[in-house]
Amino acid sequence: MDNPKDKAVKFLEKHAMVIHTPFSEMLDDFTADMTQGLSGDIKSMLMIPTYMELKESLPFNEPVIVIDAGGTNLRIALVTLLRDGNAEITDFAKYPMPGTTGRISWQQFLDTITDYMVPLLDKSDKVGFCFSFPADILKNKDGRLIAFDKEVNVQDSEGKVIGESLNAVIASRGYSKKHFILLNDTVATMFSSLLNSSGKNYSSYSGLVLGTGLNTCYIEQGENIGKIDDPGINMAVNMESGRWEGAPRGTYDFALDSQTANRGEQLYEKMVSGAYLGSLILLTLKGAAEEGLFSPSASDNLLKLDSLPMWELDSFVSDSSQSGLLLDILPTAEDRALAHHLITAHFERAAKLICVNLAGILVKTGSGTSPELPACIAVEGSSFHKSRIYRTEIMRCIRAELEEKLGLYCELVSHENATLMGTAAAALMNS
Ligand code: BGC
Repeated sequence: MDNPKDKAVKFLEKHAMVIHTPFSEMLDDFTADMTQGLSGDIKSMLMIPTYMELKESLPFNEPVIVIDAGGTNLRIALVTLLRDGNAEITDFAKYPMPGTTGRISWQQFLDTITDYMVPLLDKSDKVGFCFSFPADILKNKDGRLIAFDKEVNVQDSEGKVIGESLNAVIASRGYSKKHFILLNDTVATMFSSLLNSSGKNYSSYSGLVLGTGLNTCYIEQGENIGKIDDPGINMAVNMESGRWEGAPRGTYDFALDSQTANRGEQLYEKMVSGAYLGSLILLTLKGAAEEGLFSPSASDNLLKLDSLPMWELDSFVSDSSQSGLLLDILPTAEDRALAHHLITAHFERAAKLICVNLAGILVKTGSGTSPELPACIAVEGSSFHKSRIYRTEIMRCIRAELEEKLGLYCELVSHENATLMGTAAAALMNS
């Protein structure tokens, strides 16, 4: 009889849910995908040039209206960066993201956001709009929506220019037009790392968002971005790396994808981010139950489960507490040990893919080759900050794969209020 760990390994192998492709092979695929995307011949990642530059000095004491539109909430505030690395954040308000509670029209979307902006409209002419969805960035740093994702449903929104459309509504209500700077959440996160007053030097800057969704950005040299006609500046590139298609997928990745609205898209994101990881693990546990790996009563309970939130998974594998959904429905020690191995394997696999993504940025930029001058990776997102097991696996994999095998060094940094402050910093530096 196999012990629970061997059972888990055999089951995951059988369903190709363990990665056997060598790290170096995935890394080569990832960097080739980056290069191709930059040339304009997109393979899977969009590699969107943003015209946003990281500049030496940051303007302080100037208020900026900041809007942060994510998959769940829309936050708005007036942000003034202070010289000591902090910020004055006033007029803060949080609303449900328009389009998350049923389909709305593009006009309703604009009207709602303008309503939220009204109390701040006479407080600054600059608006930093952090937009956690794919958008092409125009030379004036406004953004053209590619498509909403994360189940945000706004009719006829594709291809619309966001700041320009909001300005039309703002002007129709008698206010003066604003200077909109639209940026992805990864770019806002990356800019937040400039606010750390540690004075430490880094060989490159990049941003990782690991929350409901997954994405990364970094600074690329203009001359390497073949798809722009003006290669004069080094700029942030929003990779939309959640679309990478080089990660080897197994039975339950295919099963999960077939249940999603954006089938066939965001394939790597579906293996690693908070919106999907719980469902993916639940599908795997149910698969193991169907194949008779759990006790009959554990199988019954698992097959009846509708959802498995990330925090339940995290507390089950990294907490010694005596309560929780999985503890309640898995009656025997063997059931619990098997579930533990199956769940941990998903976090290990996800961490490895995140590390391919980070290594790809370091290799492409030639940065992080010495521990004295590491690459700076600013990190945001609930899946990273709220899951101990995930964070631990990512850090372990960075040491094993990047540092020990590739001689690549990076430092993961986080800033409180990273999105609001990073957006303000980016808007002030680029307006
Ligand atoms: C979106 C990206 C975003 C990421 C993290 C993805 O679903 O496509 O634009 O940066 O989520 O929020």
